Amino acid sequence: MARILITSAIPYINGIKHLGNLVGSQLPADLIARYRRARGDEVMFICATDEHGTPAELAAAKAGQPVADYCAEMHAVQKALSDGFRLSFDHFGRSSSARNRALTQHFAGRLAENGFIREVSERQVYSPADGRFLPDRYIEGTCPNCGYDKARGDQCENCTKQLDPTDLIEPRSAISGSTDLEVRETKHLYLRQSALRDDLEAWIESKTDWPVLTTSIAKKWLNDGDGLQDRGITRDLDWGVPVKKGDEDWPGMEGKVFYVWFDAPIEYIAATAEWADANGLDEAAWRRWWRTDEGAGDVTYIQFMGKDNVPFHTLSFPATIMGSREPWKLVDYIKSFNYLNYDGGQFSTSQGRGVFMDQALSILPADYWRWWLLSHAPENSDSEFTWENFQASVNKDLADVLGNFVSRVTKFCRSKFGEEVPAGGRTGERAAALIEELIDRIRAYEGHMDAMEVRKAAGELRAIWVAGNEYLQSAAPWSVVKEDPERAAAMVRLALNLIRVYAVLSEPFIPDAAAAMLAALGTDDRSWPEDVPAALAALPPGHAFATPDVLFRKIADEEREEWQARFAGVRT
Ligand code: MF3
Ligand code: ZN
Repeated sequence: MARILITSAIPYINGIKHLGNLVGSQLPADLIARYRRARGDEVMFICATDEHGTPAELAAAKAGQPVADYCAEMHAVQKALSDGFRLSFDHFGRSSSARNRALTQHFAGRLAENGFIREVSERQVYSPADGRFLPDRYIEGTCPNCGYDKARGDQCENCTKQLDPTDLIEPRSAISGSTDLEVRETKHLYLRQSALRDDLEAWIESKTDWPVLTTSIAKKWLNDGDGLQDRGITRDLDWGVPVKKGDEDWPGMEGKVFYVWFDAPIEYIAATAEWADANGLDEAAWRRWWRTDEGAGDVTYIQFMGKDNVPFHTLSFPATIMGSREPWKLVDYIKSFNYLNYDGGQFSTSQGRGVFMDQALSILPADYWRWWLLSHAPENSDSEFTWENFQASVNKDLADVLGNFVSRVTKFCRSKFGEEVPAGGRTGERAAALIEELIDRIRAYEGHMDAMEVRKAAGELRAIWVAGNEYLQSAAPWSVVKEDPERAAAMVRLALNLIRVYAVLSEPFIPDAAAAMLAALGTDDRSWPEDVPAALAALPPGHAFATPDVLFRKIADEEREEWQARFAGVRT
């Protein structure tokens, strides 16, 4: 039994996530967490909301709420949606927690002691009307590059150029609109990532099994001129982790907070501590996942994220951990994803384009989405959601193949033998061939899941479902039963057992359907088919079952068209 720590990139608190966000981190992380549990591993699966920074403050201001209230409310909303999608986190934490505050301040203190932090005097825009500095998005003006007049202090949305607030032409406060702005000197802390360059490079070079997407981004940033620049890790904001050196004040840093990207990944650790707190456990309970000197030496740590997050997880966060010179667990494997596009364009949170998590669940149950998203995960390139493709996959894979198998077998058995696993008879050559095929395919499926090749795993699972259908079609117990009911009974016994095996194998992808299949079969036996022939005899003759309701319904053309039209525009 292995110990596996899994974290998903923590979603920003402002707003509900779209399906592209979901498939880029939380959903595949859940797939692997469920699979590892099914294989008997001890799993700790962690996620949280990323609550600090200007986006949170601005979204709260827009909602007319104090930022702490806004975050508490949105955390509950995101938690409910992750439950709706059956994301099986051991804990869904909050980066604004007391645990994260203490840990973030702890890491900053260690980094300072070890000489990895320098203080820098900077010129920053100050607004007397607002009584504050205006970092990042708090300032707007005309882009010096393209002339767009609503460019933000950190980036121009029109031409995507990265900006500094002082670059803007005719700058104004995004809060009050005031143009009475001045440039003032202020002190900030910089993380000396460049001093850790050799350590980072050696570490990345040692990760020969990482996906190409992860390694190529990591190396690009490592070797690009400005990739490993020292980074400012403090901001002039109210909302965030106050800048401290451990428990001590940091002279000159009064009123400042850490930059959101500094405290967010530390929340992976903090959320595990929050998990221990929530379950009344002691410090050792979470530290055995994170401290290699306290039991985490045998933990395998896997991170899931979209490609835009890779630099922070291959460089900045490891720099924080390494620079602490304390034995915190570093990530072992980073699974990253490309982007999912939406119907000929991009999903966009700021423009409200695409399907968002709440909308998806309002039209169909989680399993429909989970199956489509995972079987089309943007692993090797960007992929695209279209309603036609979604309809086709659901109707074919889920309704015609898996759903149909379950309903034909159970209904046929009920009508000929009653609602219990029939006795008698031996299966023939076709069954033997099916079992051989299943042995190969199940081992291949395990191989893909072990390698976290999500699409390949989905493809193999689909082939496993198809094999059962083809067996049923060619064995044709409904014809055989007329001459040789014993033999038909043996076929049905095998097929009923196959439903259980399908439930167990499919659970990481479609947990609700798997639960419904097991419930119908009247069994709690979730044991993995290590020995396939034995697994196909697990339900003995006489075992009672109930014919289940339709597992998956088909999507009609009119419905698809209606959704297509409804989600064509922009969410308001
Ligand atoms: N909130 C970020 C995003 O959605 C991800 C943060 S991941 C962490 O892109 F490492 F910072 F936690
Ligand atoms: Zn521009």
